[in-house]
Amino acid sequence: MVAIFTPQAEKEFFTPFGPLMGFCRMPAGFVDEMNRAIGRNLADHSQALVGKVRQELRFDQPLIDLAAATLGQTLIEYHIRANHRGAFGDYDHKSRQYELNVMGGWFVRQYAGDYNPLHIHTGAAISCVGYLALPEGIDAEWEEDDRDHHPSHGHLQFAHGTDSHYSVSNFMIRPRVGDFYIFPSNMFHCVYPFRAEGERRSFSMNLSVVERKA
Ligand SMILES: [Fe+2]
Repeated sequence: MVAIFTPQAEKEFFTPFGPLMGFCRMPAGFVDEMNRAIGRNLADHSQALVGKVRQELRFDQPLIDLAAATLGQTLIEYHIRANHRGAFGDYDHKSRQYELNVMGGWFVRQYAGDYNPLHIHTGAAISCVGYLALPEGIDAEWEEDDRDHHPSHGHLQFAHGTDSHYSVSNFMIRPRVGDFYIFPSNMFHCVYPFRAEGERRSFSMNLSVVERKA
């Protein structure tokens, strides 16, 4: 059956096209635990990734389990809301059960001059990024970047489709420690370099949400 839009109010402005983004703040204890895990003996993951960055380390199973336990509900909610939106409400999540299937996770350790070229993630439906640390001098750099045109140092940028009137085709994120974003894995994105001394540390995961009839 084709989903039909049904207005819910006398007046509303809505966004039926384009990808859904998710955001939440991560618990401080989780951020600390993830940062401590950098000291573990994790495998290099850089050959599987496009990043031109100092180091990319693959999550071990305990890290995947920890991230899934902490962020799983939000990731499943993203999946449910995206399906609700695509079906204009004609989607009964209460009759279904959901399970997270995490294909992999990794840390990205980026330093001055490093960057992440435009890319997508394959083999998953959902990707995400969480920010764990930023260089001490990044705020001063951003102040200067703001005074110049088009601030972008160390930012994450998403691009979707072609620009047109009354539409938006890109979305820029300024990282903040503790912020967590969810996005469709096949959406183009890139990370710009910065100049400050110190580490910009994030993690990402690729995953899918498996649905079953309850
Ligand atoms: Fe990426």
